Amino acid sequence: MTDLTTNYLGLSLRSPLVASASPLTGSPDMWQRIEAAGAGAIVLPSLFEEEIENEAFAVSFAAEHGADQFGEALSFLPELPLPEVGPARHLGLVEKAREVLTIPVIASLNGTSPGGWVRYAKHLADAGAHAIELNLYDVVVDPTISSSEVERRYVELVEEVRAEISVPLAVKISPWFTALGNLAVQLQAAGADGLVMFNRLYQPDIDLDSLTVVPKLQLSTSGESRLPLHWIANLRSAVQCSLAASSGVHDGADAMKLLLAGADVVMTTSGLLRHGPEHLMVIERFIREWMVERDYVSVDELRGSVSRENVPDPQVYERSNYYQVLHSWVPDRPR
Ligand SMILES: Cc1cc2nc3c(=O)[nH]c(=O)nc-3n(C[C@H](O)[C@H](O)[C@H](O)COP(=O)(O)O)c2cc1C
Repeated sequence: MTDLTTNYLGLSLRSPLVASASPLTGSPDMWQRIEAAGAGAIVLPSLFEEEIENEAFAVSFAAEHGADQFGEALSFLPELPLPEVGPARHLGLVEKAREVLTIPVIASLNGTSPGGWVRYAKHLADAGAHAIELNLYDVVVDPTISSSEVERRYVELVEEVRAEISVPLAVKISPWFTALGNLAVQLQAAGADGLVMFNRLYQPDIDLDSLTVVPKLQLSTSGESRLPLHWIANLRSAVQCSLAASSGVHDGADAMKLLLAGADVVMTTSGLLRHGPEHLMVIERFIREWMVERDYVSVDELRGSVSRENVPDPQVYERSNYYQVLHSWVPDRPR
């Protein structure tokens, strides 16, 4: 029997296949199907910095409004119960997921600026999350902000979240950094137990009829897994923390390649939104059959065997590959 167990963030998972954050993982009706289909862990949808800040605003507004009318009102309200919306509902989701599921539940916190909202990392952990995933989804369009400033803010934020919690911390990042390897090392030093590679950044579209800018979410395609594959293969030996592959994992071959590149877990969202949670079983079957055919007994045995440090010519993962790739293109037929 092939052994699919893997270690992610210090947690022992029965499988390297993880359901990443999406409406699917936020639906309690889906949890048991995701678990029954073999997921090693589940990442719940994010609690956003904006939701927390909005709630803080609403609560302080309510408190101040009361204070206007009753002189001592603020002193009556030192321990405001959390409203049954936004963050409170989110904490309830974590508690419920823990009751229903036996696989690890990872709670996600989504934001980019250090500040009071990071206290919710502790609330999520107290609600029972086995680990916290901090999503640094950010599109910096202000030309006066430098890359070093952005990176310093991320590192500070990771340090703040780390200080709040004792459970493991994963940090979900985008691939678009000038020196991604250096940022990865900095985030690890700041307390990240793992990196989730990567966020898929969404771009708006223009509607040619209404001449308006429209947000458009398109699910990923299989080819997009080459981006995490490239970076995981390159960074596997540069960091000691866990590496999770995310983006473009649609079938068993995508997942297999990412494990060979060095991923500790492989996450999928679009594939499950398209085909349902049971698609995990299809991916797992492919991995098992591939391993049996090649006499691999465990994922540990094969992980990273095609990472940059383990290939005879590491340059295939570096720039010189650019030259080879360009010159390897052969047209199907002359046009
Ligand atoms: C509808 C939808 C909702 C999502 N919500 C979240 C979220 O709340 N937090 C988060 O970190 N990622 C969220 N994601 C991103 C996914 O977790 C994942 O990183 C991304 O879709 C790339 O993986 P994929 O190629 O397997 O889809 C969402 C994606 C989709 C499609």
